[in-house]
Amino acid sequence: MHLILDCDPGHDDAFALLIAGASKELGLTGVTTVAGNSYLHNTSRNARTILDLFDIDLPVFAGREKPLLRNIVIAPDIHGQSGLEGANLPAMKRPIEKTNAVQFMAETIEKYDDVTLVATGPLTNVALLILMHPHLIHKLNSIVLMGGGISFGNVTPVSEFNIFADAEAAKIVFESGVPIVMVPLDLTHQVIVTDEEIFRIRSLGQKFEILSDLLIFFKSAYKKVFGIEGVPLHDPCTVMYLLSPEIFESKEYHVDIETKGELTYGQTVVDLWNTSGKKANARVLLSVKRERFFQIFFEKISLLKGV
Ligand code: BDR
Ligand code: CA
Repeated sequence: MHLILDCDPGHDDAFALLIAGASKELGLTGVTTVAGNSYLHNTSRNARTILDLFDIDLPVFAGREKPLLRNIVIAPDIHGQSGLEGANLPAMKRPIEKTNAVQFMAETIEKYDDVTLVATGPLTNVALLILMHPHLIHKLNSIVLMGGGISFGNVTPVSEFNIFADAEAAKIVFESGVPIVMVPLDLTHQVIVTDEEIFRIRSLGQKFEILSDLLIFFKSAYKKVFGIEGVPLHDPCTVMYLLSPEIFESKEYHVDIETKGELTYGQTVVDLWNTSGKKANARVLLSVKRERFFQIFFEKISLLKGV
């Protein structure tokens, strides 16, 4: 397998990045960045800082700095102004690649026949890939994305951040015909990080203190904004699904993206009873075995010691 990770780090993106980087069997070939949790220059810097911290040798390509049509939205209340606040991060070393993220995606798909695209931010870059390289996208294995919700949102009552931040892009992706695995909030809220996991990460060594500080910030933001104890590990669920699909339950559904609704912009409309009669376009993850999830998560995170 060859993997591309498109992200907007982002506390939980950082963990998705680290698990993917540590799991050589996934064949991560490059990281692409998009505006989302913060502005593009911040998400591009954050991705490189995290990779530098653990000496993971991967190129980072910057993508589009704003959504396709709508105004940019970022999430400073959840991730801080920089997109990755809460820890003393070392200055980043590696330069950003000269090639644009979408171009890198296209070249990689052209080169290999087994590319999977993981997306953990707004779907702007992925939609551009579909619009600009329509002849290539059917070579893709699948797009595994964290986004949307079945029964609730986190930016509006029905809309999740990654979809809300660029619903027009999400619509293009869901209508592309590429096999999609959707990781909704309903799933990510089953893998809540508590003080126990934060402490365990801290005990792994000095560099891991930075990771635990990031989680402490992320967790306190969730307490402030949503009033919940513990923080969902949204983005790593994508990579964990690729590593261990057997710990997840899923079903195929037709999913439409709402781009017009006054109250529902950015909603993922999941047709649970197939009332539309439309063919399924996404495999939606429904549940996960929490204990196994964290077992595997820690196995992978611990590998970073030797990376
Ligand atoms: C998603 O939005 C961001 O805050 C996280 O990084 C995640 O990708 C959760 O709604
Ligand atoms: Ca993200």
